[in-house]
Amino acid sequence: MLSSAKMTYETIFARSFSRHDQKKFGCGAFVGCLIIAFSFCTVFKPLLGPLPVLNLHLSFGVGLKMLMTEDTSVPQQMDIKTKEVIKPICDFSERRSDVCEMNGDTRIHGNSSTIFVASTEVTILAGNSSWSIKPYARKGDEAAMGQISKFTIKMAAASQDMPYCTQNHSVPAIVFSTGGYAGNHFHDFTDVVIPLYLTSREFNGEVQFLITNKQSFWINKYRAVIQKLSRYEIIDIDREDGVHCFPSMIVGLKHHKELGIDHSRSPYSMKDFRQFLRSSYSLKRETAIKLSDGGGKRPRLLIISRRRSRSFMNEGEITDMARSLGFDVVVKEAHSNLSRFAQLVNSCDVIMGVHGAGLTNIVFLPENAILIQVVPLGGVEWVARIDFGEPAKDMKLRYLEYKIGEKESSLIEQYPVDHQVFRDPYSIHKQGWVAFRSVYLDKQNVKLDVGKFRSTLLEALQLLHM
Ligand SMILES: *[C@@H]1O[C@H](CO)[C@@H](O)[C@H](O)[C@H]1NC(C)=O
Ligand SMILES: *[C@@H]1O[C@H](CO)[C@@H](O)[C@H](O)[C@H]1NC(C)=O
Ligand SMILES: *[C@@H]1O[C@H](CO)[C@@H](O)[C@H](O)[C@H]1NC(C)=O
Ligand SMILES: *[C@@H]1O[C@H](CO)[C@@H](O)[C@H](O)[C@H]1NC(C)=O
Repeated sequence: MLSSAKMTYETIFARSFSRHDQKKFGCGAFVGCLIIAFSFCTVFKPLLGPLPVLNLHLSFGVGLKMLMTEDTSVPQQMDIKTKEVIKPICDFSERRSDVCEMNGDTRIHGNSSTIFVASTEVTILAGNSSWSIKPYARKGDEAAMGQISKFTIKMAAASQDMPYCTQNHSVPAIVFSTGGYAGNHFHDFTDVVIPLYLTSREFNGEVQFLITNKQSFWINKYRAVIQKLSRYEIIDIDREDGVHCFPSMIVGLKHHKELGIDHSRSPYSMKDFRQFLRSSYSLKRETAIKLSDGGGKRPRLLIISRRRSRSFMNEGEITDMARSLGFDVVVKEAHSNLSRFAQLVNSCDVIMGVHGAGLTNIVFLPENAILIQVVPLGGVEWVARIDFGEPAKDMKLRYLEYKIGEKESSLIEQYPVDHQVFRDPYSIHKQGWVAFRSVYLDKQNVKLDVGKFRSTLLEALQLLHM
């Protein structure tokens, strides 16, 4: 069933999220209103994609295109063959992102998206001496990847066969894209910011960023992070007609999992990343309030407000109830001044909101703080868990989930109780992306039953004692 739906999902998806659409929505509106949209497809994709076995064959094929480098740590007396360590230039085996790493004389001509790498100390084992790569971590998602520039990497037998350098750099370069879904808060972090941190942190600022599909608003929004990772002014590589030369280069960003880092595969952890964010945005609080410590301070609750879709219809009532339990309550819509919003989030101990991109701001919460994710109707519990539930635990936050009932959804005003919208959400999924988005994402608001929701807030208070 899923595979027959593939075509429909992909084509409809591509159409609904064209660049034109993004522009029309405007950046502010776009942030937050489409998160399920993207995540949904993201999670579906692996199920729809080719069988794992095929992928394995592909990556094995790539494994043959290798380059050999000398490992000086190996004792001299060893046979010359075993002295060589085989290291592939490109790793195409990751689920979400391709990454090519080149050491030695590397030259890039931005305008033609071509990278030349000297192969003087290199033996090419098999067939290919050129690769192509799109440097954005949402591999397999055609709607996103269709908007990303493709780079060609070519091996040159000697430096003389490479274009003449018009600018020499002494630090490594990292090539990445701010196209695709960049602009959606969730995708900003999971597709670009975290992968960029993972790939560039080790250089301690001594690295040059080469950005393709550059969007100025994005660079402005994340300036604090970019400046902390690289001491050098970014280069808009698409506009460069000269040839920039580097001692080494990484094309594409490392990616482990949704909104997270696998510490077993990196010197860095999510804890390090959050520490890095606190330092980038001068956030003061490392840990949330501990009520058992006394001091009489009230825990702060941030209600993430949404206006256009999936909004709380009774924010006032929720606020009053939370105040009656002893919370200091702030109601705020996530906005694009990240620095200001990060400060606000960091000042809170509990954050609650309906599933959506605004919840990505949990990255700024102090440790031990609590995320309460309100899950709307539509069979999206698993997406909710993958996008925020699991990542929250990795961030050393406590996670509570509140799944709304039919009476708490505005859909009850539009459809009879026995309608398939309530009885069989999957039948709506099967009608395609547009139908699903329209029913559950764009036209659903939430009116929390405060009597019922009260116990979730009490549970949060309980956790703040521990
Ligand atoms: C070599 O790689 C290029 C770029 O990835 C690809 O288009 C081409 O088909 C490959 N050629 C062979 C013989 O594998
Ligand atoms: C860059 O370095 C190379 C090799 O040292 C040199 O030949 C070339 O003139 C330099 N180019 C510029 C623009 O400085
Ligand atoms: C980029 O290359 C094209 C030809 O491929 C050329 O017409 C154009 O002038 C170049 N752009 C810049 C900014 O150099
Ligand atoms: C964001 O807010 C901070 C602090 O309130 C302010 O200093 C800064 O100018 C704002 N940035 C933008 C781009 O509006």
